[in-house]
Amino acid sequence: MMSSAEIRHVQQDEIAPWLRALRATLLINPAAGNERSLAWWQEVWDPDRVFGGYAEGRCVATLRTFPTTLTVPSGPAECAELPIDALTQVTVAGTHRRQGLLTRMLTQSLQNAKDRGEAASLLRAAEWPIYGRFGYWPAAMGANYRILSMRRPQVLPPATAHQLVGIDPELLPAPAAEVHRRARMRRAGHIDRTPADWQRRLGLSGLRPSGVREPVCVLARNADGRVDGYALWRANDGDLLLHPDQVQVTIDEVLAATDDAYRALWHYLLNLDLVRVLLLQAYAVDEPLEWLLSDGRAAQRTWIGDNDWLRLLDVPAALSARRYASTDRLVLEVVDRDGGWAAGRYTLDGGPTHAECRATPAATADLRLSQRALAGVYLGGNTVASQQLAGLVDEETPGAAARLESMFWTAQQPWNATPF
Ligand SMILES: CC(C)(COP(=O)(O)OP(=O)(O)OC[C@H]1O[C@@H](n2cnc3c(N)ncnc32)[C@H](O)[C@@H]1OP(=O)(O)O)[C@@H](O)C(=O)NCCC(=O)NCCS
Repeated sequence: MMSSAEIRHVQQDEIAPWLRALRATLLINPAAGNERSLAWWQEVWDPDRVFGGYAEGRCVATLRTFPTTLTVPSGPAECAELPIDALTQVTVAGTHRRQGLLTRMLTQSLQNAKDRGEAASLLRAAEWPIYGRFGYWPAAMGANYRILSMRRPQVLPPATAHQLVGIDPELLPAPAAEVHRRARMRRAGHIDRTPADWQRRLGLSGLRPSGVREPVCVLARNADGRVDGYALWRANDGDLLLHPDQVQVTIDEVLAATDDAYRALWHYLLNLDLVRVLLLQAYAVDEPLEWLLSDGRAAQRTWIGDNDWLRLLDVPAALSARRYASTDRLVLEVVDRDGGWAAGRYTLDGGPTHAECRATPAATADLRLSQRALAGVYLGGNTVASQQLAGLVDEETPGAAARLESMFWTAQQPWNATPF
């Protein structure tokens, strides 16, 4: 049944009921906001990028996007940036579910992103089956880690002479933003952060939800005094006296712009007094922890799964932005049955130092592949072979899939440090 609800952009003076609808469906206290959080929303609000569904005067559906840049592979530990659209805050109230509201909002939102010239759209999915029909596909995986620090595994090689200094959360954004800017260029999959993102992430200006502890923040300074990394952590609730053997710490973030700073921060975290277990969520699947530790089994991956889903909107812009592990020239027939925005025949001519992709409708295709498959392999997070196995890649020229595989190969798995 199609809903008669109206879908439209949402203005600044309608934020509060829009947030109430969002929070109710995401199982957060609908009245959780305060005046400060409203001020934060007013600052980031762009009515052209916010949709609401309205029935009988009530907000029953929400969707918002924001512009950002995605880091894409450009060298072994080097990235370029691609301007994209990031999709978030998608909800449809239980009263209006399965009546096509998400389909109407998202189709319009993707068309708008295409019209604005954004090369792709990125999201984190609450459930796997929701977004494939709109062309989104898992592109960067994530992993949770449980690190048994009571085994006191040592960092190898020894942490270098970094000075570790504590800093209050209010003072962290300036040095941390600079580390994030440098660190994200070392791995594909990261999005950018605005000053407002730092405020929310650190729970500053009254934005910390009640019951959530303030993080302990630590900077790593190199011998020249430059800040090369930071770590944020907080102790989990528990009773130190009654259960001293179960004390857990959640690491919100460890980000470093150099390998030395990375080792120094992990050395510090593994040696926190009283702590038995460190928990790390949605980190890179190839986080090199076991290779850093004297006892690699102290770091356990407790979950691996899809983190960020990508949907390509402009194939020439996306494929020209990255660089490739091997030099080759392939004609790709991109099939896009999920909206058609990326469909076409394109010639990709690329290698480690150059890349050009353009529409060549008359060229003979070497490969026919679904936009989903291309989005899935774009950042290096999946293999072409896996997408071929899933029936999403067909060869017209024998061996073309393996050639695409060697072009798209990356040394590191993509990962995005910024939940959104
Ligand atoms: C997910 C959600 C936004 C879907 O909204 P909706 O308006 O019901 O979606 P639509 O009616 O446009 O559904 C489109 C299609 O997707 C399918 N679909 C939607 N959500 C699905 C889900 N969670 N699992 C499987 N299929 C789903 C529908 O069955 C429908 O398929 P059909 O066309 O073959 O009938 C809504 O259920 C919701 O708000 N869920 C809770 C919050 C949430 O998960 N938000 C997403 C955050 S990333």
